[in-house]
Amino acid sequence: MSAFLEVRDLTVSFPTEDGVVHAVEQVSFDLQRGKTLAVVGESGSGKSVTSSAIMGLVNRRAASVTGQVLLDGQDLLAMDDDQVRQLRGSKMAMIFQDPMSSLHPFYRIGAQLAEAVRVHNKVSKDQARARAVEMLAKVGIPDAQSRADDYPHQLSGGMRQRVMIAMALINDRIC
Ligand SMILES: Nc1ncnc2c1ncn2[C@@H]1O[C@H](COP(=O)(O)OP(=O)(O)O)[C@@H](O)[C@H]1O
Ligand SMILES: [Mg+2]
Repeated sequence: MSAFLEVRDLTVSFPTEDGVVHAVEQVSFDLQRGKTLAVVGESGSGKSVTSSAIMGLVNRRAASVTGQVLLDGQDLLAMDDDQVRQLRGSKMAMIFQDPMSSLHPFYRIGAQLAEAVRVHNKVSKDQARARAVEMLAKVGIPDAQSRADDYPHQLSGGMRQRVMIAMALINDRIC
């Protein structure tokens, strides 16, 4: 069986005023279903750009992205923005290093999780809220029911990271 994620010759370069930055050059790897892959490297070696390119988060107008990124056999780099958006948050998700910049400061975390559910599923507000609380509990947030009403700044850094993990997995049917 082919891998869940196949990256082939992924190359990302940014034209800048000081010349072309070759951020990622001909990277290839496979990720098997149910397995974990760690990419390790020194700062500036291209880990974040690799992940962002896979997620379709590199601005194609500002950078050249070539190669193939096959997710379940479908080439993400050949898809249009709408198709990639469909997959982001359902089949693939990213947990950013700094969760404060990915959570909206003005909305309660339960509401943000519920919104993520409703983007991908036809469910009622109550069902989405219940799913949000369930995921908060699953990632180890104590007292999830009342914590869901907290704003991001009311949580510790570690808890915010857990909220992002909950966000990444909330639309995964096996979680
Ligand atoms: N938008 C950009 N424009 C120009 N260069 C960039 C851009 N984003 C990242 N880079 C460069 O790409 C290289 C890889 O960066 P990055 O993937 O963030 O490294 P890592 O995550 O491994 O620390 C670095 O040299 C970085 O400066
Ligand atoms: Mg990085």
